[in-house]
Amino acid sequence: MRILIRGGTVVDPENRTVEQKDVLLVDGRVAGVGADLPADDALVIEATGRLVTPGLIDMHVHLREPGYEHKETIASGTRAAARGGFTAVVCMANTDPVADTRAVVEYIRERARATGVVHVFPVGAVSKGLEGKELAELASLREGGAVAFSDDGRPVVDSGLMRRAMEYARMLGAPVISHCEDPGLSAGGLMNEGRTAYLLGLPGMPAAAEEVMVAREILLAELTGCPVHIAHVSTAGAVRLIRDAKARGLPVTAEATPHHFTLTEEAVEGYNTSTKVNPPLRTAADVAAVREGLADGTIDVIATDHAPHAEEEKDVEFAAAPFGIAGLETAVGLVFTELVHSGVLDLPAAVAKMTVNPARILGLAKGRLVPGADGDVTIIDPRLELTVDASGFVGKGRNNPFVGRKLTGVPVTTIVAGRIVMLERDLKC
Ligand code: DOR
Repeated sequence: MRILIRGGTVVDPENRTVEQKDVLLVDGRVAGVGADLPADDALVIEATGRLVTPGLIDMHVHLREPGYEHKETIASGTRAAARGGFTAVVCMANTDPVADTRAVVEYIRERARATGVVHVFPVGAVSKGLEGKELAELASLREGGAVAFSDDGRPVVDSGLMRRAMEYARMLGAPVISHCEDPGLSAGGLMNEGRTAYLLGLPGMPAAAEEVMVAREILLAELTGCPVHIAHVSTAGAVRLIRDAKARGLPVTAEATPHHFTLTEEAVEGYNTSTKVNPPLRTAADVAAVREGLADGTIDVIATDHAPHAEEEKDVEFAAAPFGIAGLETAVGLVFTELVHSGVLDLPAAVAKMTVNPARILGLAKGRLVPGADGDVTIIDPRLELTVDASGFVGKGRNNPFVGRKLTGVPVTTIVAGRIVMLERDLKC
C-alpha cells in the first residue's frame, strides 16, 4: 500500500523546520519526505494548506478497559484518539483489575491489537491495586510491555515505596509518572482552594497539595537518578519547582493538559460537573504560569488526561460526580486556538510536545517523519473552525467543559502504520 501526502506543510519538530513537502508512505513506513515525489500507483491525499506532522502521541489517557467498559473501551477510546489526530496513546493503570500484573498489561496490548485503531502503550502500576502499600512486580510489568510506571489517579503517598519504585524503574529503563497530590492536604476537596471555592461553598484543594509532592519527586529523582515525569501540572509553584530542577540537571520532565492551560477555577461557577477534575482548574495566575512553562520548555509535553465517565455518573450533584474530563477530541483544537494562534508556542514547539518529546521520555522510536520511521501521520487544518459538540464525539465520554466553544485548528486525517483511520474527519475504522 502506497500513500502520497501531497503539498502539505510538513512540520519537523526535531529540526524545527516548517516546509512544503510531500510525504510518501510505503507498506506502513515513511519511504520519503521531499519535494515533488512521484505518485506512481499511490493513493494521493492532497494536503495543500494543511499541516503534516508526525503522528501525535497522547501520553496520558484512561481507556477504562478492563473493568469500566461503560465509560470507555479500548475500541471507543482509540477511535476517539484517531478522531483527535492521535496515532498513539499511553493508557493508565487504574483499570479493574488494575494493570499491576504482567497478565493485565498483556491483556490490554492484546485487546488493543484486536480492537484498537491506534497504537496503545500501557503503563504498569507502581503499587499492587494502586493501594500504595506493596510494590507491584515492576520487572514483570516491563517484560509484559509496560512503557512506564504510575499509580495515576492516586498519589503514591509513602515516600519509601516511591523511592524503591524509582530504583527499580531506573534499572528497568522506564520512567515513573507521578500524580502529585498530598491527600493530607487535598482530602475532601472538590475544586481549587480559594476565592471561588469559598463563594461556591465547595471544599478546596490547595496548590500546596500538588507542590509538596512535586518537590518530593524532584528530591527522589535526585536521590535515585530515576527519570520522573510529573503528570498534569496545574500550579505556578509546580512549574517553578520543575524549572529549578531542570536547571540543576535533574531527570525531571512534565506535562500539562489543555484544560489546565485554558480554564480557570471560575469555570466551576455553574457547578458543571464537566469542570470537576483532579488536579482541579486553578487561578488565572496558575494558567499563565503553565503557559509560561510550556513556552520556555519547562513543560515538555501536552497530554490530555482523557478521563471519560458515563453520563449518568457525571449528571449528579457536584460533590457526587467523579473527577475527569474526556479530552481526546478537543486537544488539538485547544492547542492551536490557545497556544499556536495566540503566539504562546510556535508550530515546531507545539508539535514537539505531542510527538518527539513524549516519545523520548518513554523511549519510543516514534515522533519523527523521516525515511524508515513508522508510517504514523497526522494532517491538521490549522484554520478550520469547529464548535465543540460532545454529542458528535466518538468516544463514550461526553464530560467535556469546552462544549459550545469555537476552536480553530482541526485534525482532518490520521494515518496509523500506513493505514488511514480517519480521512477528512470521517473515521475509516
Ligand atoms: O480527573 C481525573 N480523573 N484525574 C485523575 O487523576 C484520574 C482521572 C480518572 O481516572 O478519572
